[in-house]
Amino acid sequence: MARITAGIGTSHVPAIGAAIDHDKTQEDYWKPLFDGYMPAQEYVEKNTPDVAILVYNDHASAFSLELISTFLLGVADYFPPADEGYGPRQVPGVEGHPELAWHLAESLILDEFDMAIANEMPVDHGLTVPLSITCGQPDAWPFKVIPLCVNVIQYPQPTGKRCFKLGQAIRKAVESFPEDLHVAIYGTGGMSHQLQGERAGLINADFDNAFLDDLTADVDRLVNIGHMEYLRESGSEGIEMIMWLIMRGALGEQAKEIYRHYHVPASNTGAGLIILEAA
Ligand code: DHB
Ligand code: FE
Repeated sequence: MARITAGIGTSHVPAIGAAIDHDKTQEDYWKPLFDGYMPAQEYVEKNTPDVAILVYNDHASAFSLELISTFLLGVADYFPPADEGYGPRQVPGVEGHPELAWHLAESLILDEFDMAIANEMPVDHGLTVPLSITCGQPDAWPFKVIPLCVNVIQYPQPTGKRCFKLGQAIRKAVESFPEDLHVAIYGTGGMSHQLQGERAGLINADFDNAFLDDLTADVDRLVNIGHMEYLRESGSEGIEMIMWLIMRGALGEQAKEIYRHYHVPASNTGAGLIILEAA
């Protein structure tokens, strides 16, 4: 059967992708951030999954406000990098895994999670930057990817609790797929950041570090963080962190922390990365 063995939480800041694409990772500003990503790349190289379920959000690249789906699964066999205004990133296209993706769609929908389904979809920095952070600059991404796109942009976003439960249902769905597949799951976005309004530039390192701690120490606390608390403590875009709770829910009751890196500043965000294994 297929198994979820590892979970990766990471920020997906577009400027991190631009620093990689324009060879700036060794500059003073970026080096401390990228040095901390090296152990994560080594981990992924040593423990390369067959497929990754990559939980991310689209930033008005594939979908604008005409269509807002709360949870959406990409079932295509290929997802091209999106044009985000400066042309698409020069990174490999993303190969999907339609068989597992359709199995997830069926299992989740019959389990009462009403997923939208995308047969065709370009993927923006929310998805490609986490791949760059953890895989570097290969000619082709080393595993297949099932995009799971979450609305974190337009109120009402789903609750963190709903996201966690979706993660639990994903675990069950993966474990009922008959083929022996090694599956990883990414939760992306965050950490604290606010890109707009009077508090633009807000970063809350205490909140972020407590969030990283409680992914193993007190998941219940994280699951009960509501929209207002994210907004107040982690800025208007901090709610992207609910996507990390899908990843955490998919790891089962107990998870073990393997590696963590937190660095401020990275563009306008507190940049976090964590690797967890199902315990
Ligand atoms: C920034 C961060 C994000 O997560 C994002 O999606 C866009 C911009 C930023 O820090 O600039
Ligand atoms: Fe974002």
